[in-house]
Amino acid sequence: MAGTIRLTPGDAEAPRDQWYVIAFSNEVTRAPRARMIMGDPVVLFRREDGSPVALFDRCPHRGMRLSNGGKIIDDNIQCNYHGLQFGPDGMCQKVPSGGPISNQMRVRSYPVTEIWNWIWIWPGDPDKADPALIPDHHELGLTDPSLHSYSGLMLEMQCNYLHAYENLNEASHVSFLHHGFIDTGNVAAHPFREEVTEDRVSTVREFKDEPVFPYARMSYGLKSDVVDRQLRLTAIAPTLTTVSERYQEKGVENPRELLVRLVVPVTPASHKKCYQFVAAVRTLPAEPAPLFEGLRAFLQEDQIALADVQELFDSLPPDQRIEVSVKADNPAWRTRRILENMIKNERASPAVATAT
Ligand code: FES
Ligand SMILES: [Fe+2]
Repeated sequence: MAGTIRLTPGDAEAPRDQWYVIAFSNEVTRAPRARMIMGDPVVLFRREDGSPVALFDRCPHRGMRLSNGGKIIDDNIQCNYHGLQFGPDGMCQKVPSGGPISNQMRVRSYPVTEIWNWIWIWPGDPDKADPALIPDHHELGLTDPSLHSYSGLMLEMQCNYLHAYENLNEASHVSFLHHGFIDTGNVAAHPFREEVTEDRVSTVREFKDEPVFPYARMSYGLKSDVVDRQLRLTAIAPTLTTVSERYQEKGVENPRELLVRLVVPVTPASHKKCYQFVAAVRTLPAEPAPLFEGLRAFLQEDQIALADVQELFDSLPPDQRIEVSVKADNPAWRTRRILENMIKNERASPAVATAT
């Protein structure tokens, strides 16, 4: 039985049999790194051959975090308390103080795969972890040789993942929360159309003869003062978002069409915390440092707002956590239905792995 599925932002469940980004590639090295995935502490490191490993981040001996001072020796991680070593499959390989190694002396090992500049993790049933389920990175633009792609900004969000996911896919707030920083104040009232497939919901706004807003002038390389602009937000289940802007220059010699896109997977770290891994795709090259500084400036406005929304939600009894939607929330409701179906389907399937 599927049972009740909670899909209210602030308290939403996430599908477990899915790939989520857990780190940028350059964050995972021969030194252990701690992260969370759906409530599980995980430690990430690389084998000698460079391939990534993700293990449950708790030594079964006396409960030390393996990431807390753990050392990578060959392909194993050595706990910093009494020196037990665990291999990439999670089995204990060595007990320095001797004696037999019990079959219980093991930690959970998670399927991981590295694509482009990030590491994907599968927190669910490992038998279902098919890398072909990961969105096509060429289609996202990340590995398209005709475009420039950049990675480098990770934001820890102190909110339930659905707040972050819906925020990224709801454009009307940019006219208010971001105070016209990334628009000329007209996005909220502008009509939109929806495009829906089995696993994605797009919200598209078309603007004709729009003045270029200051941030676009500063960082997008536009030469004209007026543009036709398409703003397309796409929610790709379970939690990846693309924010695509196409600008058609007008009134200049050799007008160009320029694409500026953010690709942002949201990862449920725990029930009340998530990560946003921000990548950028553009027609024109950019200097990564100022690019991500600019993005951080406005994404922090969401980060601060959503932490406050979550804190208030948590402080109130359920009967005061009222949520009333408007027309601009229709795409969010479609996305919730897709997530609901994903969770229903995985609950209906017989073999779901349990946490260590
Ligand atoms: S707690 Fe890890 S070796 Fe003892
Ligand atoms: Fe925002």
